[in-house]
Amino acid sequence: MAEIRFDDRVAVVTGAGGGLGREYALLLASRGAKVVVNDLGGAMDGTGSGTTAAEQVVKEIKDAGGEAVPNFDSVADWESAQNIIKTAIDAYGKIDILVNNAGILRDKSFIKMEMEDYEKVMAVHLDGTFFCSKAAFPYMRENNYGRIISASSAAGVYGNFGQANYGAAKMGIVGLMHVLKQEGAKYNIMANVIVPIAGTRMTATVLPPNLVEMLKPEYVAPMVVWACSEQCTFSGYTFVAGAGYFSRTAFMEGPGVFINPAEGITLEKIHENIDKIVSLEGAQTFGSATEQTGFALSKLNLG
Ligand code: NAI
Repeated sequence: MAEIRFDDRVAVVTGAGGGLGREYALLLASRGAKVVVNDLGGAMDGTGSGTTAAEQVVKEIKDAGGEAVPNFDSVADWESAQNIIKTAIDAYGKIDILVNNAGILRDKSFIKMEMEDYEKVMAVHLDGTFFCSKAAFPYMRENNYGRIISASSAAGVYGNFGQANYGAAKMGIVGLMHVLKQEGAKYNIMANVIVPIAGTRMTATVLPPNLVEMLKPEYVAPMVVWACSEQCTFSGYTFVAGAGYFSRTAFMEGPGVFINPAEGITLEKIHENIDKIVSLEGAQTFGSATEQTGFALSKLNLG
């Protein structure tokens, strides 16, 4: 099979100074992409900033013969997010690929979580993904080409103790992607999500050291970088990748049950039917809210 290449493609990877983002940037550059390596360079809880992390990755790319420029702005602010995208426009004249990867953690049980922990985590993950996508989208639309892949998490999709802020933000990103899929379809803009599993400074707080060592971020990168390629014509997908395991996760809706409104919909009828209501046997996904609502309405005899 022909090699998948990114010659003449321009990519922005946020939070690319370390962990997973660094691997995405290195792989994209090694396949010919011009890369904006964005990283605020702060601590894992979002405090502080610095230029070393992004500069170091740019150096690695250049040393290997690739093309890259650093950017040190925060994704969490509309002005600075626009500046991240502007860095690509100023350096390379366009943006084809956006990887929304920057992230922080401020884990605490829901009871103990301070509003600041909620606001900071929402700002980096959900606002950051929204802002960078919003800044990039007009350029992608103009060029009739775009690939946006954003980092969600199993903590959002399935829940994780102590991550109410993070889980909420990560599912918000899935909701955003579903809309961008629809609004980008006409312009060849594909929007997808990655649920990664990797040993990084972020997971070093929750995983045992030997597992952190085994779950190499480079095992995730090919899935994400594939989703950045021309070959990816999928949009609205949530890919799972880690430890050599690759899959898709999705919202599924069961076939459900029809209770005729004309005969009365009572609490007791809900109770009688609850096993059928919650069953996912024969479940399906829907491409849009319209499709899902249409399915529900099709049960009614509207004639
Ligand atoms: P990491 O902490 O190694 O990398 C995150 C990077 O984002 C850091 O280099 C940090 O400086 C940067 N960053 C933080 N705030 C920023 C801001 N406001 N603007 C620009 N850059 C900023 O963590 P890791 O593990 O590489 O995570 C990457 C993404 O993948 C995150 O969104 C994370 O939530 C997500 N993820 C990771 C998982 C894993 O197993 N490692 C699991 C599920 C999700």
